[in-house]
Amino acid sequence: AYTAKIGPSVLSSDLSQLGRECERMLECGADYLHLDVMDGHFVPNITFGHPMVECLRKAVGPNPFFDMHMMVSRPELWVKPMAAAGANQYTFHLEATTNPGNLIKEIRESGMKVGLAIKPGTTVEELAPWAGQIDMALVMTVEPGFGGQKFMEDMMPKVSWLRSQFPSLDVEVDGGVGPDTIHRCAEAGANMIVSGSAVVASADPRSVIALLKDVVLE
Ligand code: DX5
Ligand code: ZN
Repeated sequence: AYTAKIGPSVLSSDLSQLGRECERMLECGADYLHLDVMDGHFVPNITFGHPMVECLRKAVGPNPFFDMHMMVSRPELWVKPMAAAGANQYTFHLEATTNPGNLIKEIRESGMKVGLAIKPGTTVEELAPWAGQIDMALVMTVEPGFGGQKFMEDMMPKVSWLRSQFPSLDVEVDGGVGPDTIHRCAEAGANMIVSGSAVVASADPRSVIALLKDVVLE
């Protein structure tokens, strides 16, 4: 048995009020914050970088867990700046590096937990060799780049496989997850649930977060 955690993605919120939005999500029961960093190169969109993360850390205080989803072409560049800004976990994309082993080591040395993400077109077998060295595997359930896309149910076998092969590994799903799709994620064994537009755009985020937790709690 495991307990799932809910990490809202504040990407689809009012970015001029990001600190306030993070506080609002935490007040509504978020277990952690999933922060989407995009560089306009690895994905066709730009969001924010470590200066924003430093400000968000000041806004929410020392305790909330920041899961940095690094959709960037050169993840090795931002390890130290993100650690200094107050990030807790550094989730980089397998597709963005030729030397995951070295990056894993650098992230650990900087004091953060290690997440490894795969895009929909990347197989779970490609991630498997690193699974014993990381804290979390992120199975993308949309093509990274934008919030509000449709959940790809055909990614669920990746989640089930990781859950069966690596029982103590955190497995996160990200993209199109909300009240309509959470059951699939829970069945497959995901224990870290990212939800962006379904939570942030809701008139009642507290209820949506509670609903997502209710399903995934065993
Ligand atoms: C997409 C991001 C996601 C996104 C999720 O590239 O990685 O975190 O913000 O948003 P929804 O839940 O709206 O798909
Ligand atoms: Zn994300």
